[in-house]
Amino acid sequence: MNKEIVVSGIRSTGQLHLGNYFGAMRNYVRMQEAYDCYFFVADWHALTTHPDTSELQNSVLNVLAENIAAGLDPEKVTLYCQSAVPEIAELYLLLNMLAYKGELEKTTTFKDKVRANPENVNAGLLTYPVLMTADILIHRALYVPVGKDQEQHLEMARNFAQRFNHRYGELFPEPQAFNFGAELIKVPSLDGAGKMSKSENQNATLYLADDDELIRKKVMKAKTDSGPAEPDSEMPEYIRNIFQIMSLVSAPDVVGKFTADFNSANIRYGDMKKQLAEDMVRFISPIRERAVELRKDTDSLKRIMTRGAEAARESAGRTIAEARRLVGLNYLQ
Ligand code: TRP
Repeated sequence: MNKEIVVSGIRSTGQLHLGNYFGAMRNYVRMQEAYDCYFFVADWHALTTHPDTSELQNSVLNVLAENIAAGLDPEKVTLYCQSAVPEIAELYLLLNMLAYKGELEKTTTFKDKVRANPENVNAGLLTYPVLMTADILIHRALYVPVGKDQEQHLEMARNFAQRFNHRYGELFPEPQAFNFGAELIKVPSLDGAGKMSKSENQNATLYLADDDELIRKKVMKAKTDSGPAEPDSEMPEYIRNIFQIMSLVSAPDVVGKFTADFNSANIRYGDMKKQLAEDMVRFISPIRERAVELRKDTDSLKRIMTRGAEAARESAGRTIAEARRLVGLNYLQ
């Protein structure tokens, strides 16, 4: 029996952090046995924000090494970089005819980028969701393991798939966000505001490449206060965030103990953060160490991506041939 198809992409700018791990990477690892998985580094997407291109290769290899270190098995999943599969660009072009300026301008991520970089509002940025749709539809994927911030993009992908099917004929399934039962996870940042991020608030974000001392330093600086004045107080958001992060890496009885301390107005945030720092070091350091080892062997990483691109192009080629036929672009056959 054919396995169901899964696609996900990782942007290659910035360092991977705890939010990437719990939002996406952990799900990739869980999916690799039961699904036919295509995971890629979204290097074309990275160009939308004009990164220093001399760093591209290094970022791509780092992202790959960290994902393998987190548990992805290149023997079980197809790993490649987007730019090695030109069929994606062709599908992107076809889909662009079905994507309207108004809806693209309304996308939250686009509006955020315009606000952050008003001097670089390029067409690639505007059509980011269309390229993402092409990434997914090129393998006719059913499931896309992504974090909460990608829900709107997926909804757009379903719309574009539907429009294509309606205009040209049935080809694409409507891809769904995938997570294991629980709600899509958002990992809050350590400063009480927003979530962990690849490029912003770096002191409040835990990266998979952070060394033990840096992890401890960041955790100990997390925003707290002098504790609740009376039992059963309401928990401020920045404290709730620390509990949430703790519940990801610490044992349930540890979280239970500090919750009880909070409820009895007896909590020592210094102790809680020390415990969290040690649990976090225990969680991150094996991933970091494996990634450093893997990254040293650049040739092996390149071989993995070459093999992945071949497999990805085979699947992509089948889809693009069908798409051309349905659109009516198969004059020479
Ligand atoms: N937009 C995603 C992000 O910012 C990355 C991405 C690009 C992606 N193409 C994709 C994710 C296709 C899932 C499927 O994280």
